[in-house]
This record gives sequence, structure tokens and C-alpha cells, in this order.
Amino acid sequence: MIDRSLLFEVLTQRLTESRALALLGARQVGKTTLAQLYASRHNCVYFDLEDPQSLEHLSQPMVTLDAALSAGRTVVIDEVQRRAELFPVLRTLIDRHARNSQFLLLGSASPLLLQQSGESLAGRLGLLYMGGVALSEWTHTNSSSSAKGLSPVHMNQLWLRGGFPRALLAPSARAAMRWLRDYLSLVIERDMPQMGLNVAALTMQRFWRLLAHYHGQTWNAAEPARSLGVSEPTVRKYLDFLVGLQLVRQLPPWHENLGKRQVKAPKIYIRDSGLLHYLWGVEDDDALWLHPKSGASWEGFALEQVLHVAQPDEAYFWATHSGAELDLLMFKRGLRVGVEFKRIDAPKITPSMLIAIQDLHLDALYVVYPGQRRYHLQPKSAAISTPIEAIPLNDLATLPADWN
Ligand SMILES: Nc1ncnc2c1ncn2[C@@H]1O[C@H](COP(=O)(O)OP(=O)(O)OP(=O)(O)O)[C@@H](O)[C@H]1O
Ligand SMILES: [Mg+2]
Repeated sequence: MIDRSLLFEVLTQRLTESRALALLGARQVGKTTLAQLYASRHNCVYFDLEDPQSLEHLSQPMVTLDAALSAGRTVVIDEVQRRAELFPVLRTLIDRHARNSQFLLLGSASPLLLQQSGESLAGRLGLLYMGGVALSEWTHTNSSSSAKGLSPVHMNQLWLRGGFPRALLAPSARAAMRWLRDYLSLVIERDMPQMGLNVAALTMQRFWRLLAHYHGQTWNAAEPARSLGVSEPTVRKYLDFLVGLQLVRQLPPWHENLGKRQVKAPKIYIRDSGLLHYLWGVEDDDALWLHPKSGASWEGFALEQVLHVAQPDEAYFWATHSGAELDLLMFKRGLRVGVEFKRIDAPKITPSMLIAIQDLHLDALYVVYPGQRRYHLQPKSAAISTPIEAIPLNDLATLPADWN
């Protein structure tokens, strides 16, 4: 088993803070497994609405659930989006029992769940997003207490195969890629139509390949629209859909009042590095290292890990037309933290970093790189007091406390 105890703690904590919590995330990231673990350790009753027996037990939901809540139990409902008519019942019960940890809701169609619950449970439902296996979790799973960070083999395994547990744990990289191929087919042919996006499978396959091509770059709907033979609003709709499914990240551009021309288009990333590699046709470590865009893949992978660890309030990238840029600008509790991703041995301060520090008034700048040593970078000019630090990607697993 992959050790997801960090996430388990967050789930437990969040449930104590809200009457009802929805556990959301892309398909197959491990929502059901985590919820079952929770149910096995707490006083819970578990319903899976894809299971006929559960459905039968819930033939009179008001009575059954009221009894469970009165007995002080937490009600876990998986695949809740299958019975939208339950939501008004949940609302009544949530208001009646007025204590926290009443309901844990989850389902394989997160956007649908969100939409349905939004109508009935407004203001009553906490949301917890979970992603694929993060570097920190993979490190917990694989490191002995004496070793620092992940071995290069394990690091490459996570990067190459991505964070879906089934791909990560597949018997070979090739088997992982086959699993990812089938996963994508199912998302395209079953999930997307079920959630109301009726697009020819072939068009969606091509759209995914375009996304893989643009991974880590700015995205402007005009070119993809032309190449798919659809309108720009249609392309935007496709993209929004995949963002909603938590499969694609759209990083918006930051704009500072500077009198400089700044990039206004968002950047897009395929969030799971394994899916990206499948789409690129990359099947093993050698192919990945030799791939002309492996740098972009590494940056996207590192970006997801930083966002997972830092949990910022907002995240952007920044770029000017004259060439200065910042890969990631995070806002957290009023602080501005910049992050650069450099896939080189020993990153140094670049002119672009200094411009970003000054123009954006950064409180700190981190340079994430693939090495082993954490060190401070000292700007030549004494006028710059912002701390700049190089951080190994491998260190991100153990960082949370000082990432604030
Ligand atoms: N911590 C883990 N360690 C090992 N395997 C895991 C872990 N979590 C999940 N898996 C495996 O990954 C697969 C998907 O897990 P699970 O069914 O929990 O995901 P899900 O998010 O509920 O998927 P869906 O959205 O399709 O309902 C399963 O085969 C499960 O056994
Ligand atoms: Mg599930």
C-alpha cells in the first residue's frame, strides 16, 4: 500500500471542522480507498450507491440516515452523484443534527457531485480535493527513517508513471502506460459523455494530444480551434471541462501595474506526469531523458509537487514581453512567494529572477532543482534583501513547515 497517512490526517481534521465534507478528485486517485480506511477506523456507516445492497438499505433514506446520525455515527456515501434526490434529505438532516462529522460524501464524478450538492447544500459542505500520489506520500512509502528523501529510482518511477496508484504500482513501466491508455479511453468514452460533454471520442483524443503538445506553454484557443475544426468557445469549454475533472491545470497569468507589456494568456499543464508521458509515447526512463520536452515535463511535475506542499491561496505565473518571467507566483496569507524551476545541477541567480523580485515585490524566491543540497543564493547588489534559496525537489517532501 502507498502510505497516504498525511492525507488521512487532513481528512480526519477537516471532518471535525464541518458537518459534511465532500472528498473530490480525478477518477482513480484513491478516494474510495481513503474513505474506506476512514470508515474502518471511526464509528461510521458506509453506503456505496453503485452497490444494490446499499441502495436497498437506503430505500427510506430519511429514516435510515437519521438513525445513524442519532447514534453518533458518521455516514459515508460513495458514488453519491448517482442519487441526486438524496441531497435535499441530507440538507434536512445536516440542519437537524447540528454537529460536525455527519457526512463524508464522495463519488467518481466530482464535477457532477459539486453541481448537485451546490444546489441543496450551499454553505454546509466542506470540500477536500485529493490528487494522485504526491512526492511526499511516495517518500513516506519508500524511505527508511535514516535515508534522506527518495532514491533516484523511486523519484523517476513517480515522475515517469505519475501519481495514479494503479499506474505507479504497475508491474512494469510498460504496464503502467497501458493502464494510462485505458484510463484515458474510459474518461473520454464514458465519463465525459456521462457528465454531459458530448464530443466525438476521436476529437477528444486529438484534443488531449494538443494539450500534451502545449504542456507548460501559454495557451491561446485560436490555434487548437483551427486544428480541431471547432470554434474557440468550444475549445474553451473542453478545457474547462478537463480542469473541472482535475486532469488539467490552467495557471493564470499575473498582471502587475508596471507600464511593461505582460503575457495575458494562461499556461496549461497536464497534471499527471504519467498521462503526459503516455500521450507523448514515452514508455521508459531512457525515452523520457531523451525526449526534447523532458524539461517541460519535469517542471510540470515539480510545479504540482510545490502546489501540493505549499497549498497557496492563489497561484499564477508571470512573464513580460521583454523576457523576464517567473514560473510560479504564490500568494499565501498576504505573502508573495516566487518559485523558479531549473533542471540543472547548481542553479545561480539570473537577471530574470532579480527583475521578478523587484517588479513583483517578492517576499521570498525559491529555485527548485533536481540536486541534493539546499543552499542560499546571494545577490551581488546589497539593494536586494529578498531571500533566495535553492531547494532540491527531493526536499519538498519534508518541507511544509517553513513553506509559509
Ligand atoms: N494507498 C493506496 N495504495 C495502493 N493502491 C491504492 C491506494 N489507493 C488506491 N489504490 C488503488 O487504486 C485504484 C483506485 O482507487 P479507488 O477506487 O480508491 O479510487 P477512486 O478515486 O475512488 O476511483 P473512482 O473515481 O474511479 O471511484 C484501486 O485499484 C485501489 O486499490
Ligand atoms: Mg471510488
